[in-house]
Amino acid sequence: MIIGVAKETKFKENRVALTPDVIKDIIKKGFEVQIESGAGLLSFYSDEAYTAAGAKIVSKNDVYAKSDVLLKVNAPAADEIAQMKKEAILISFMWAATNPELVEACSKAGVSAFSMDAVPRISRAQKMDALSSQANLGGYKAVMLAADTIGKILPMMTTAAGTIKPCKVVIFGAGVAGLQAIATAKRLGAVVEVSDIRPETKEQVQSLGGKFIEVKGDESIKMEGGYVKGVSEEFLKKQQELVSKHVKEADIVITTALIPGKKAPVLVTEDMVKSMRFGSVIVDMAVEQGGNVVGSELNKTVQKHGVTIIGEGNLPSLLPMNASDLYAKNIQTLLYHLADKDAFKWELEEEITKGSLIVHKGQNLKMN
Ligand code: NAI
Repeated sequence: MIIGVAKETKFKENRVALTPDVIKDIIKKGFEVQIESGAGLLSFYSDEAYTAAGAKIVSKNDVYAKSDVLLKVNAPAADEIAQMKKEAILISFMWAATNPELVEACSKAGVSAFSMDAVPRISRAQKMDALSSQANLGGYKAVMLAADTIGKILPMMTTAAGTIKPCKVVIFGAGVAGLQAIATAKRLGAVVEVSDIRPETKEQVQSLGGKFIEVKGDESIKMEGGYVKGVSEEFLKKQQELVSKHVKEADIVITTALIPGKKAPVLVTEDMVKSMRFGSVIVDMAVEQGGNVVGSELNKTVQKHGVTIIGEGNLPSLLPMNASDLYAKNIQTLLYHLADKDAFKWELEEEITKGSLIVHKGQNLKMN
């Protein structure tokens, strides 16, 4: 089978689906690999490095038309999918629930498509979990961006001219990104306070040295498979009131709260932004899903009421070397799980296949 890696075309995307090291291993397993010229450059992998790993450098046309399996970070556009071989297989992020036209394009082209964001989060699939590998890096980068933007240092410092107080960082959401943000802010010496509505996060936050802001949940919080599936507007209002004091006193606020498949909950209102000190910084990591902060703008840094609000939509892409390395390992592990060098196994009832396979030979498997 010929594995193809296409260059990413999404705005501000620096990542690439496979790295030279992973390609070496894939070739050892008996696959052939071809990669679009320049696909790795923004992750600092040259065509020469890919050639040395055993891959063939090809044109965009060839990567789409001549690959049996096409690997990407972001899904290709409909016209690119139309160029794929019939019965070829796509593996990339798809966000199928909110991208029906993409699913339709795959069906029309008669291809099969696995979505990296739909790999079930079970222990044996942890090595394939690209959501976690990328969110973890995103949480780190959010703190670094905030630290670089605020006109202050994060740790306490005692000097002859006086003592500098540590920055106070408030983090919303203690999932994968939030926990990494807590650890990073603590390492930089900040005082960290955290709010999440899953009760089990309290202990995780405390074990990283963060202070947990207690917001008592109510019956409107719907959980499914360990995830928050929904909360009521009334609950969000109560939560906003309880956390507003902490936001007012914060130097940096980082929001990471997501509800899978839904618009992100609003946690920081305009009044809360107004209450913050002149010069404070907010990073809204949920900006692509509608945002946790009133006033954040996708892919922009804006000033509102004297507060800088960073709305970077693709934080992992700002760390392309690590992000591509980890993504390549995730996709390699999924590929080995699904196929050997000659063919895909198509075990349609197996849990990982069942979760991640969105279109099978042109048939939309997730149609309600
Ligand atoms: P996510 O990105 O969907 O959400 C981020 C966080 O926002 C979650 O912790 C959620 O509880 C929180 N949140 C939602 N609404 C909120 C609100 N109103 N206020 C404050 N916080 C709110 O979640 P992520 O990071 O993708 O994963 C969450 C959890 O899933 C992990 O902490 C872990 O328990 C589990 N998980 C399990 C894995 C496995 O078993 N292989 C792998 C990855 C995650």
